[in-house]
Amino acid sequence: MIEGKRIAVFISGRGSNFKAIMEEIKKGTIKGRIVLVVSDNPDAPGLSYARENNIECAVFKKKNSDSRSEYFKKIISELKMKNIELIILAGFMKILSPYIVGLYRNRILNIHPALLPSFPGEHAQKKALDHGVKYSGCTVHFVDEGVDSGPIIAQKAVAVKDGDTEQTLSDRILEKEHVIYPEAVRLFCDNMLSVKGRRVFTKM
Ligand code: GAR
Repeated sequence: MIEGKRIAVFISGRGSNFKAIMEEIKKGTIKGRIVLVVSDNPDAPGLSYARENNIECAVFKKKNSDSRSEYFKKIISELKMKNIELIILAGFMKILSPYIVGLYRNRILNIHPALLPSFPGEHAQKKALDHGVKYSGCTVHFVDEGVDSGPIIAQKAVAVKDGDTEQTLSDRILEKEHVIYPEAVRLFCDNMLSVKGRRVFTKM
């Protein structure tokens, strides 16, 4: 395995995007190393996969008394201890505090199951179906202070079929997520991405 950038992956659930990225790291296509998996959910199935792969896991359950900034302060100290250079949000269902976003500016990636800027936030696939769009898809973007609003790195479109349900559309979008997310991480780890305003350019 190539050493490369030190990565933390944040998950809340199944972690299939985390697995897709990890598989590429194992193959050596991504010059990075996942040294930490952070979760807000102690029962996230993705944590078992992390442990099977000997990746350290840190669970941070949010107490009701914790403000968002207090909650993320605890996570930041763990990230600093591990010298994290890249944060990958992979189905992490909490909005980051502005402080962590500023600290890791243009070093936090997220995947969203819609063609942003359409349908940000939760239940993106259902919103796309309810709206009646003919194409939806997925987007990898840098994280800024807004919700799913940062500069876009990669997108893939998926045609909506007449018989689609939220589940069938989500499944087809997820297949594309597993393609574009590892690819975006590879570009980041190869220092191929540059951000100018809202636009992200890939060096050739
Ligand atoms: C993915 O579809 C991802 O795009 C979505 O959660 C799912 C996580 O799946 N993320 C969001 O909706 C964030 N706004 P995974 O745990 O199997 O990677």
